[in-house]
Amino acid sequence: MIRHLLSGADLDAAAATQILDTAAEMATVAGREVKKLPALRGRTVVNLFYEDSTRTRISFEAAAKRLSADVINFSAKGSSVTKGESLKDTALTLQAMGADAVVVRHPASGAPHRLANWVDGSVVNAGDGTHEHPTQALLDAYTMRARLGRLAGLHVAVVGDVLHSRVARSNVLLLSTLGAKVTLVGPPTLIPVDIAQALASGIDVSYDLDAVLPNVDVVMMLRVQRERMTDSYFPSAREYARRYGLDAPRMRRLPEHAIVMHPGPMNRGMEITPEVADSPRSTIVEQVANGVSVRMAVLYLLLGGNNL
Ligand code: NCD
Repeated sequence: MIRHLLSGADLDAAAATQILDTAAEMATVAGREVKKLPALRGRTVVNLFYEDSTRTRISFEAAAKRLSADVINFSAKGSSVTKGESLKDTALTLQAMGADAVVVRHPASGAPHRLANWVDGSVVNAGDGTHEHPTQALLDAYTMRARLGRLAGLHVAVVGDVLHSRVARSNVLLLSTLGAKVTLVGPPTLIPVDIAQALASGIDVSYDLDAVLPNVDVVMMLRVQRERMTDSYFPSAREYARRYGLDAPRMRRLPEHAIVMHPGPMNRGMEITPEVADSPRSTIVEQVANGVSVRMAVLYLLLGGNNL
């Protein structure tokens, strides 16, 4: 097993499958009365969050606690970061406290990679800028496999604000490794020209959502990330929703078995309507539940626990 999980590209098919299989074992713990394993007793996991987060932070915390690790939650707000302390000095502090794993979310792309050079423990990237979010890609792959029975040969459309999406980047890398086919869909302004070739081979790009929908097994809607937008990338929210939003009539273009995913948080009414988000085809709530199992598997395997 690798020491850090920084990118979807860190995992080959065997390592990714090992994580998904271990996550399936971990999922059985969630069904027990006592939802805890002793695997990481005495180990310390630090959650280092420099950016807002609901699901990812809670999910990592639940995962570490279910494995009996000691968990320290650090959020930049209310810490010495607001006094200008650098990432490196914070890292050295964590190091001195004996962190076995550091889970980091940071607005700067590449911050987890820097951190990995400064601490002895394992670093897990929980989202860095517009770059990567590998555990989200793993939980998405887990959800697809659980619902559709396989990953190899699946056709996945990743739709919307690809430009700002670390979820899209990690998904493209991991899904390609696992033998799925990916088509990126969105307005030309939100799909970087070279992204398809830069990430992996065999990635298609389309600007026409209606044409792609009948041919996919999975449609993954991305949040329009207004907080990262420095320009106007589309004429209006209404126009965006009209061309790239998933509503009920559009959902009916999908094959019978196809599923609808979204990493959250959603802009209901923009990239996805409430009717679609709350439909039986939607896996949005399952994705959150599966996230805990997948993060348990990641922490367990990285820290080499052996009491499973
Ligand atoms: C995503 C993120 O933070 O990258 N959310 C998540 O982790 N579940 C996607 C987003 O913010 O749109």
